[in-house]
Amino acid sequence: MLKYQNDEDYDIHALLEVIYLKWGYDFRGYSKASLTRRIFFFLQEERIDRIPDLQFRIVRDRGLFSRFIKDVTVNVTEMFRDPSFYRSVKKHIVPQLETYPHIKIWHAGCATGEEVYSLAMLLDQAGLLDRATIYATDINRSVLDRAKKGIYSDSHLSQYQQNFKDAGLNGDLLDYFEKGYDHVIVDSRLRKNIVFTEHDLVIDHVFGEMQLIFCRNVLIYFTRELQDKVIGLFTESLDFGGYLCLGIKESLDFFDGRAMFTAVDADHRLFQKTSNKGSSDKR
Ligand SMILES: C[S@@+](CC[C@H](N)C(=O)[O-])C[C@H]1O[C@@H](n2cnc3c(N)ncnc32)[C@H](O)[C@@H]1O
Repeated sequence: MLKYQNDEDYDIHALLEVIYLKWGYDFRGYSKASLTRRIFFFLQEERIDRIPDLQFRIVRDRGLFSRFIKDVTVNVTEMFRDPSFYRSVKKHIVPQLETYPHIKIWHAGCATGEEVYSLAMLLDQAGLLDRATIYATDINRSVLDRAKKGIYSDSHLSQYQQNFKDAGLNGDLLDYFEKGYDHVIVDSRLRKNIVFTEHDLVIDHVFGEMQLIFCRNVLIYFTRELQDKVIGLFTESLDFGGYLCLGIKESLDFFDGRAMFTAVDADHRLFQKTSNKGSSDKR
């Protein structure tokens, strides 16, 4: 029986295998449709005709591989994405965080950082920022570099100001930014407790003893099996009583260890780890 439906399936499979062997990055568990689109886009960008040609070149050219990572990962994000989600975090999670002397937060798949700074503003207004450490991670080094700088074009500013208000924060977004000619720069006060660092959810290890994990709009790019494995990683990384926040289109429904979590706001995908039993322990 044929293992691959067509040559394209085979070529993509072979490309991902070769990338894993050579560079140690594992895209084999990413959803095929989106990944295939991104690979074809990359071929066009690099003016490479065929996937086998890309396969040949990518193992010999580190620069090409770095650009591949940059282009195949989807980095779309915004400030206070889904504003009502932040209202829910304020209502359901902040009161629990207030009880901790120190708060460890992992923001996985943070892209260019807009969401990380949104959370920092929320924590600031709750009087919790000084006792929080936020580990903001992504597989893509170039977006992390931009996140670290905290410089954003002002083209979406009015939408972000509206999101800020809709998220239930007081004052104005610009209270946290310095305005430049066509950009805004995040206040250093927001940045000082954030550690930006590379971390690959597929191959890297646990971030220990977190009280809160944000991983929004990342799992949608993974197959169900990979989602299960990554949620297992989050489960291990969370303290008992810690919270896991996913994107609006993501869920724990198919996760083997879902009985370990209680939905504190199912609509906004806020879950609390309320049991230590039932871990899928697949890593
Ligand atoms: C669509 S963005 C989501 C950004 C932000 N969390 C949000 O919801 O607005 C997805 C991010 O996940 C990152 N990502 C993809 N695969 C990853 C992996 N294996 N490990 C860590 N981050 C990954 C991408 O580089 C990208 O920045």
